[in-house]
Amino acid sequence: MDKPIIYMDNAATSWPKPPQVMEAMERSMREAAANPGRGGHEMSVRASRVLFEGRKALAKLFRIANPNDIAFTLNTTHALNMALTGMLRPGDHVVTTSVEHNSVRRPLEALKRKLGIKVTYVATDARGVLDLNKLRDAVRPDTRLIVAGHSSNLFGTILPIGEIGAIARKHGAKLLVDAAQSAGVLEIDVGAMGIDLLAFPGHKGLLGPQGTGGLYIHPELDLEPLMQGGTGSRSESPEQPAVRPDRYEAGTPNTVGIAGLAAGVRFVLEETTARIHARELALTRQLMEGLQSVPGVTLLGPDIHTERTAIVSFLLEGADPSEVAFLLDRQFGIAVRAGFHCTPLGHESAGTLETGAVRASPGYFTTESEIVSLVDAVNQISVMLRNK
Ligand code: ALA
Repeated sequence: MDKPIIYMDNAATSWPKPPQVMEAMERSMREAAANPGRGGHEMSVRASRVLFEGRKALAKLFRIANPNDIAFTLNTTHALNMALTGMLRPGDHVVTTSVEHNSVRRPLEALKRKLGIKVTYVATDARGVLDLNKLRDAVRPDTRLIVAGHSSNLFGTILPIGEIGAIARKHGAKLLVDAAQSAGVLEIDVGAMGIDLLAFPGHKGLLGPQGTGGLYIHPELDLEPLMQGGTGSRSESPEQPAVRPDRYEAGTPNTVGIAGLAAGVRFVLEETTARIHARELALTRQLMEGLQSVPGVTLLGPDIHTERTAIVSFLLEGADPSEVAFLLDRQFGIAVRAGFHCTPLGHESAGTLETGAVRASPGYFTTESEIVSLVDAVNQISVMLRNK
């Protein structure tokens, strides 16, 4: 890289990573690169230990009693597909929200076509805020599952997962949480929040590499596995073993990636989600305050006083969001994401389905002066456009 980039796309993938993550991946490649669970030799045992340590760290973070209730996946999408296709049966009804990502909506729509499941999307308001009464009203006797994103990847709004968990329990439904924007940033306690299934990415707030993620599955919930295949256990049986995590982890895993993920989770545990969230919230408010003063800028999502994750989506009057992102990248070396952020329903709620938006997402390692540079750059683009 010739010039340092200002990275404001942490909602897509966090960057940079703590040095411990890279070191752990390199060490795993050098010392533990054999196939875990597929041999009794020393290197294979070391690789198994990498997976075990990763599961243990994640279990500590999410307050999961048994680390084996966590299955590693490639990403959140993989975990969500595993949960939805593994759980839903013909005729089931699902309640979800209008701010969900396509990684929830598309599998649900596919299951509607394939199995005839029914789905109710509860609309949020234009700022991405969910009225819990509306969600409660949408639950029916045949509702099997509620699916809720902990935090919207468009608005940064935080859904009250504990209260949604209580609604699910009261009506005998299960709760699947998409923690794509919250894992590693917001406190998650699966028991206290009534979470039956938790899908999370390794490469965002948990600071691991891409190609990592996972699904927590409540011990009393038996999902049909998404994939069947080799597990290194009960090889004589034609059936996928019942034992966890093998039941949900067919095939050779991403051991080196999980080594990095484990180091990222240990970093989060040391820093604490409380400190990480407080820092990101302060940066987000600095960014919102700065952007609010730029002529022509409209911010999406809740106001500056409302707690949110580090996501600031905005429009600049007279400019296409992709043009703004292009100028930020090419002229100022600032990386943001423009477009629809894989959440067309969210954009429908915001009234931005025609235009999309620009999204800046600071991370734990973003500095105050980088926020100043971004605001200054948007200001310059605004001036440029007004003088065009
Ligand atoms: N889901 C990620 C995002 O919102 C990729 O950008």
